[in-house]
Order: sequence, then C-alpha cells, then structure tokens
Amino acid sequence: MELHILEHSLKVASIEKEGIQICTHGLIKLAFLASKTRCKFFSLTETPEDYTIIVDEEGFKELPQSEHISVADATWLALNVVSGGGNASSSQPIGVTKIAKSVIAPLADHNISVFMLSTYQTDFILVRERDLPMVMHTLSSEFTLLRVVNGETVAAHNLGVTNGFVKPKLGRLPRPIIHPLSSPSNMFCVTSLDPDTLPSVATLLMDVMFYSGGFPNNVLFTSASGELWKMVRIGGQPLGFDECGIVAQISEPLATADIPAYYISTFKFDHALVPEENIQSVIGALRTESTAQ
Ligand code: ARG
Repeated sequence: MELHILEHSLKVASIEKEGIQICTHGLIKLAFLASKTRCKFFSLTETPEDYTIIVDEEGFKELPQSEHISVADATWLALNVVSGGGNASSSQPIGVTKIAKSVIAPLADHNISVFMLSTYQTDFILVRERDLPMVMHTLSSEFTLLRVVNGETVAAHNLGVTNGFVKPKLGRLPRPIIHPLSSPSNMFCVTSLDPDTLPSVATLLMDVMFYSGGFPNNVLFTSASGELWKMVRIGGQPLGFDECGIVAQISEPLATADIPAYYISTFKFDHALVPEENIQSVIGALRTESTAQ
C-alpha cells in the first residue's frame, strides 16, 4: 500500500452564513472556472452552521479578508492512500472504514491531530505540516511513503523523528467516544461528476451552493445502486483543531463492524456518513462506546 503526501499547502477556513455574499466572486472562480486560478485543491462544505472551505495557498488568495471569515492557524498537508494491486473491482470496504486501522488509529495513538475529507473517489487525511515528520515515522512501517513534488511522485524519506509519545502496546486500546453525537433526519446522496459536464450543471450547483435550494433528483451521476446515506454529527461545542482521536473513536468501531463510511470534518464539527440501512446499528454501537468508559 502506498501513502501519497500531496504537495498542496492547505488552509482550512470558515465563512459565516451571512458572509457568503462577499465570497461568491472568489468561490465561483474556484469551483467553476479552474483555468482562471492557479488553485489545485478546493473543497466547500455547507452545514447549518457555516461554510467550510479547504483550499491551497493559491486558491486562498481568491477570498477577501473579512470579519466573516475565520482561518485555522495551521497549514495542512493532504495524505491519501493508494492501494497497489489496482484491482478496482475488489470488494474493499469504502471510505474511512478501509483506512481506520492502518492510518487513523496509529495517528491517534501517536497524538497526531487529523482533519478528514472523504470524497466520492478518495479519502484525504489532512495533517498539520509541522507534524509531517512524526506522521511519516508513524506510518512508514505499513506504507510506502511517496511525496508529490511538482506533480511527480517521488520517494519520501523518513525523517526518523519521534515526538516521544509512545503508547504501550496492550492490544486494543479502549477509545471511548468523548463528544456528543446527533443524527439529523435528512438523507444524503454521495455522487461525483465528470468535469466536462460541469458547465451543464453549473447553474444548478450555484443554486445549491449559495441559495440553498433542495437538490433535484436525476441530475448528477449517482452511484450505481442509488444508495442513500445518513449522517452522524460529532460534537456539541466546536471541536477545534488540536484534539486527536475523534476520527479514530468513530471509524474504528465502524471498521470492526465492516460498515462503509464517509467522513467529513468541517471547521466546527465532524460528520460521518453511513448507509441509511445501517444508521440504527451504528448509533447503537457508538452509544455503547460512549458509555463504556
Ligand atoms: N482533530 C480531530 C482528530 O484528530 C478531527 C477533527 C476535529 N475538528 C474539527 N474542527 N472538525 O480526530
């Protein structure tokens, strides 16, 4: 298995709902007019609280400075796991479930804070740039570490650094769930689209992004099975960026139960998406972990 360390230096920011109007010029450029910016990594997540934007330094320049925008201090790097064999049809678990034990848990055990961004195609694990030596140290035994430099993938050399944080290996560590969980009643469709078809759905997406209309059916490519997902939101108070182990607390039990999941961190909270038919058993399993202190 390969772990790619992408070259983008990423910023994580929150745009207040009231502030979205002053950002639309930049966001439209970032989302729809790729050739007009040098931005190579852009993500926008709307929640009832705010908009979370994850963007590289070039893209960040497209946003105005405003009291409506908060930016997390750290610069983040995106990691992504690429499985060697290339057998696309293998019945691998989907999303964070497949990296829970090999990536998420070891990073949590070494006190490294992550920020997760699952997409239809891949799962990005964001780590703080300053934690990279420790990240590489932690994951070098399981993965071939590769760095992307100027678009080319090259071997990354383990810097051989530790933060002195060594957890005793006592088998499965108890990892109680610390933060409160909630599950809204709405359902989610996880989908992707061919960039070539972007112009034909651009007005629809602008509506969804900035005017919060519902999402009409049958417009985007949906996954073949048309499955629906339900959300578990993690956090009562905003989670911040320093605490580690939150993603591990949720994704490990899901991996043990072999339940596929997407996981999206936003500026304030974390969100796991699980298949609709599994939501009750997921909530049951996570509640058990919450109380089994
Ligand atoms: N840092 C957390 C972890 O390592 C996940 C991110 C939580 N914070 C947030 N703002 N969403 O598990």
